[in-house]
Amino acid sequence: MVIFMLLEIENLSVEVAGKQVLKGVDLSIDNGETHVLLGPNGAGKSTLFLTVLGFPQYKVIDGSIKFKGEDITQLSTADRVNKGIGVSFQNPPAIRGVSVENLLKLESHQEVNQPLNSRMKELAKKLKFSDEFLQRDVNFGFSGGEVKRSEILQLLAQMPDFTMFDEPDSGVDIENVELLASEIGALLDKELKHDLRKRSGLLITHLGYILNFINADKAHVLMNGKIICSGNPGEIIEDIQKNGFNGCVECAQYPS
Ligand SMILES: Nc1ncnc2c1ncn2[C@@H]1O[C@H](COP(=O)(O)OP(=O)(O)OP(=O)(O)O)[C@@H](O)[C@H]1O
Ligand SMILES: [Mg+2]
Repeated sequence: MVIFMLLEIENLSVEVAGKQVLKGVDLSIDNGETHVLLGPNGAGKSTLFLTVLGFPQYKVIDGSIKFKGEDITQLSTADRVNKGIGVSFQNPPAIRGVSVENLLKLESHQEVNQPLNSRMKELAKKLKFSDEFLQRDVNFGFSGGEVKRSEILQLLAQMPDFTMFDEPDSGVDIENVELLASEIGALLDKELKHDLRKRSGLLITHLGYILNFINADKAHVLMNGKIICSGNPGEIIEDIQKNGFNGCVECAQYPS
């Protein structure tokens, strides 16, 4: 039997709008693992996510992305989503004419002309969305926190095997960070013992506060389009808080 990582990114180089943003990224994530991606503004973190999701503007000029052992580098976004990849976007677009409820039905494979199923109704309530709110156009006029909660609700409708969270905590008040973390935990099988977990994730955060509520297995620092160190999340965050990202450049000695 061949054993492979859930996600395996090798030597990935990516160009966006004529500029090379990623310069040889290597990253592997196993079944049941939660990894954290750290790095300064503009380092290429969101670019990495959108490339894994297969957005056409993000042109792979070298390297490969494997998911469940299969090379997906050339697959369409729709095919990747169908294989079990999901993302909560840093800045998702507003979609006029599509209600949150109808989007949730599509994402959870329900008929649009049938009432929303009870699982999704309960989850919406848990994430503090009223029935009236569910009738609103997706992200149109939502507050910053509502956008973030809506992204997580949509992921709960999909239950991907591998989820990328792009700053799910940015602009979210302290109480809602805890709420979001608990639902992110559900997307990462955190209620199961480590060995029994199947779902995995990669989470971008700047402040790290959310990690008080989500146990992460490993952290990586991305700078100038490259992962320059990987290791224990608590230690790396503490170091960045003390010495800034320049400390990472000087150190770059964590075991991978
Ligand atoms: N579609 C695009 N068109 C032009 N430039 C882009 C595009 N996407 C990304 N870039 C550029 O690539 C670089 C990396 O951007 P990216 O969004 O990946 O950074 P990030 O690490 O997510 O930063 P932040 O922490 O601020 O979210 C930036 O200089 C950005 O302007
Ligand atoms: Mg970003």
